[in-house]
Amino acid sequence: MSGSGPAAGQEWSPEDYACHAGFVPALGAEVLALLAPRPGLRVLDLGCGDGALTARIAAAGAEAVGLEPDAAMVAAAEARGLRVIRADAHDPFPEGGFDAVFSNAALHWMRDPPRVLANVFAALRPGGRLVAEQGGFGNVAAVVTALNAAREAAGLSPLRVWDFPSPTLQRTRLEAAGFEVETLTLIPRPTPLPTGMAGWLATFAAPFTRDAAPVTAGALLADAERRLAALHDPAEGWVADYVRLRFAARRPG
Ligand code: BEZ
Repeated sequence: MSGSGPAAGQEWSPEDYACHAGFVPALGAEVLALLAPRPGLRVLDLGCGDGALTARIAAAGAEAVGLEPDAAMVAAAEARGLRVIRADAHDPFPEGGFDAVFSNAALHWMRDPPRVLANVFAALRPGGRLVAEQGGFGNVAAVVTALNAAREAAGLSPLRVWDFPSPTLQRTRLEAAGFEVETLTLIPRPTPLPTGMAGWLATFAAPFTRDAAPVTAGALLADAERRLAALHDPAEGWVADYVRLRFAARRPG
């Protein structure tokens, strides 16, 4: 769930992530089902974060190894008893021959998706699969628009922080990397935010305030939240405009 150095200027607190964004791994059941972890399968979990889903892959009997650049997240995953390679997915992976590379909510943080896909391809054995879910085209579009409007109101230029590809773009990238696409689905999934928009922005929106003075950063996020009032429902609370892209692709055998 992060990237190089970290990707897009994000640093992680495992405690904050579990509190404000624990729903991200909790909603990973369907991409896990697409992976179908089982004994005998050797799986690399790309951007494993605190290892919540890596542990579920291991619990299904597969050999699960995490790959994660963020030191705090690596420590949290290791505390679960998992083996984690601390590395940036933009660099060639130090281990290969995997039966599957799995990734949930990490690929949208990558600055150079074709480079990452080339590394994934090289890390798979012939016949191995990439099974992943990430933000897809239109994901949190209202949130991004509000953050950039708040930046412009504060005299800062708008940013493109995340990669939310359309199915057509992602299929093109996967095929250019050498993969055969098995499934590729765009899934609108309005998602209730357990700690509200303020909790979500505090967890994920740091790249939008990095170049703002500390006093401006808080005001900028408050301004973005105010612009997002239409995502607040009196009965449901805050609901973010999530759109997922779920896919499986095979390295030809
Ligand atoms: C996510 O991990 O689900 C996410 C992160 C940044 C923007 C949107 C979604």
